[in-house]
Amino acid sequence: MCGIVGCILKNNEKVAPILLDSISKLEYRGYDSIGIATVDDNKINIKKDDGNIKEVNNKLDLADMDGNYGIAHVRWATHGDPSKINSHPHTDENEKIAVVHNGIIENYLEIKEQLLNEGHVFKSETDTEVIPHLIGKYMDKGLDLESAIRETINIIEGSYAIAAICKEEEKIVATRKNSPLIAGIGEKGFFVASDSPAILKYAKDILYPEEREIVILTEDGIKIKDEYDNYIDSEIIESKIETIDWTPEMAEKEGYDYFMLKEINEQSTAVKNTLTGKEEIKNIVNELKDEINRICFVACGTSYHASLTGKYLIESLAGIPTEVIIASEFEYFTNALDDKTLIIFISQSGETADTLLAIDAANKTSKTLAIVNVVGTAATRKADYVIYTQAGPEIGVAATKTYLSQLAAIYMFSFILSDKEYMIKELEKVPEYIDEVLKDTSSIEEISKKFKYADDFFFIGRGYSYPIALEGALKLKEITYIHGEGYAAGELKHGPLALIDQNIPVVVISPPGENHKKTMSNLAEVQSRGADVFAIGSCDDDFLISKSDDVFCISPEVDELIAPLIYIVPLQLLSYYVAIERKLDPDKPRNLAKCVTVE
Ligand code: G6P
Repeated sequence: MCGIVGCILKNNEKVAPILLDSISKLEYRGYDSIGIATVDDNKINIKKDDGNIKEVNNKLDLADMDGNYGIAHVRWATHGDPSKINSHPHTDENEKIAVVHNGIIENYLEIKEQLLNEGHVFKSETDTEVIPHLIGKYMDKGLDLESAIRETINIIEGSYAIAAICKEEEKIVATRKNSPLIAGIGEKGFFVASDSPAILKYAKDILYPEEREIVILTEDGIKIKDEYDNYIDSEIIESKIETIDWTPEMAEKEGYDYFMLKEINEQSTAVKNTLTGKEEIKNIVNELKDEINRICFVACGTSYHASLTGKYLIESLAGIPTEVIIASEFEYFTNALDDKTLIIFISQSGETADTLLAIDAANKTSKTLAIVNVVGTAATRKADYVIYTQAGPEIGVAATKTYLSQLAAIYMFSFILSDKEYMIKELEKVPEYIDEVLKDTSSIEEISKKFKYADDFFFIGRGYSYPIALEGALKLKEITYIHGEGYAAGELKHGPLALIDQNIPVVVISPPGENHKKTMSNLAEVQSRGADVFAIGSCDDDFLISKSDDVFCISPEVDELIAPLIYIVPLQLLSYYVAIERKLDPDKPRNLAKCVTVE
C-alpha cells in the first residue's frame, strides 16, 4: 500500500545507499515502482521508475546519488498506472520540493482543477502530485517548508503519510493522517518511515507521531509540532520514545528462499512468544468480565478468519453471544451496539484502514480491545485495551506466523474468560506439534506438483475446522492465483456440489473429534463425484487414510478444538509449494499489499 522513508544523516554522509536499503525492507507494501530523491548542491536529484526495486536499481543505480538527506518510496498504484511519470517522488512547479506519499487524497480532483486554473502544470495522473504543488504555492508566498505543509494539510482530505524535502532547507518534514508513520533516532542520523523494518538496522529508538503532527528532521535531531502548530517540549518528546527489541536479522531471509517459508518455520517460536502474554490477558479479562454480555470481533482477511475461530471458542466455552464482522462492513451494524458489548479488533499490522475506522465507530458506544502484532501502531492507540501477539516482524504479504499468534492470543483469552485457564496447558504443547509438522514436508512438495495445474479448489471443514478451510483457501488465492473456496463441509451439498468433478481437488480438514464422522460423509460425497481428495488428519485414522487420494498425517493426535493451531500449517505449505511450482514469488503476490491503508 506504498511505503515511504525519509532520512537525514550527520557528518555529510551519503544518504542514498541507506534510503535504498531501508525502502527495500518495505517492498511488502508495494512493488509497482520505486523512487528516491536527495538534495545536493541546492538541487533536487530524483531517480525513479516502474518495476520492482531490483529491476529499477539495475537500471538506475539508485545508491549512486549525492546528498546527506532525502526521501524514498515504493508504490502500490491506486491513481494512475505503474509508470515512471506516476512514480514518486513528485515535485512542485519549480522542482524546488519533492514529496513521497502513502494514502489517498480524496479531494485531489477539485484541488487539481483549481491549481490548473492558477496555471500549474501537472505531469502525472496521481492524486499525490497536488501535494508538492500546494506546498510550492505556499512557499512561493513566503512560508517555510513546515508552515507550507501545515497549510497544505488543512486543504487535503483523505489519508496520508507524507515526507517532503526542499532544496533550500536542510531538513525533512513529515506528517500523517490515517496512514502509518514512525520517526527513528539513530546514531548516524534521523529517520521517518511507514514501518519499523525499514529502519531497524539504523534506529532502535522510535516515536509514533500523532495525526497531523508535523515532524521535522534536521542533522541536529527531531522536533515535532502539535496540530495547533506549537513545538512540543523536547522532554515530552523524549518521554514518548519507545525502544524496539526487534533485530535487523528478524527482517532478513536468513538462508530461506522466501520470507514466507521462513515465517512458516518461525511459527512455533511465534506461538511461544504469544503465550508469554498470559498475565496481561488475565488482567484485561478480570477488568472486563463482569462488564460485558456480548462480544463482537471485527477484522479483515486472515485476521477475520482468526476471529471466526474466536466465535467458536467463546460461544462454546464461555457461552457469551459472539459475532464476527468484516471491518469494512462494520459501519452497517453499529446501531445495536452498547456499552455491554466488547468489540475485539484483530489486525497484524495495526494499520488497516477499514479496521481503524471501525475502531473509531466502536469507541462511541462500546469497550474496545485490539489484538495487534506491531507495537505502537494506530489500532493500539485507538483501542481501550491492547494485547500484543509478539510474533516478530512479518515481511511476506500473506500472513502466516501472525495468524497463528493471533489464534494463540484468542485461545488464551477465551480459556481465561471461560474460567478454563487450565486448558492453556494444551496450548503450551502447540509449538512442539508445529515443529513436528514442519519436520518432513516432502509429501506436500510432491502433492503440489500434481495440484499446480488445477484451476479451482475447495477446502472443507466443520466446526473449528471451518475457519481453517477458509484460511487455507485464502492463502491459495493470495499467492498461487488459483481459485480456492473454503466451505463448511455440511454446506457443500447445498449448491457447490454441482461444480465438483475430477478437475476440482477438494482439501478435507478432519481432525479427530465429534465432527469427524460427519466430515467423512462429506468426503465420500465429493469423492463419488470424482474429486481428487487431499485430506489433513490424524496418522491413526485408517479410514481417512484409506478413503483419500493424498493425505497429510498429523502426529501426535490433537483434538479438533486445538487443531486450528496445527492443521493450518500444511495448508500454508501447500499454497507456498504450489506458488513455487508455478514460478510465482510467494512474498509479493500481485495486486496485494501487507498493510492496506485505504478503505
Ligand atoms: C491485507 C493483507 C491480508 C491481511 C489483511 C488484514 O488484505 O493482504 O493478508 O490479512 O490485510 O490485515 P491486518 O494487518 O489488519 O491483519
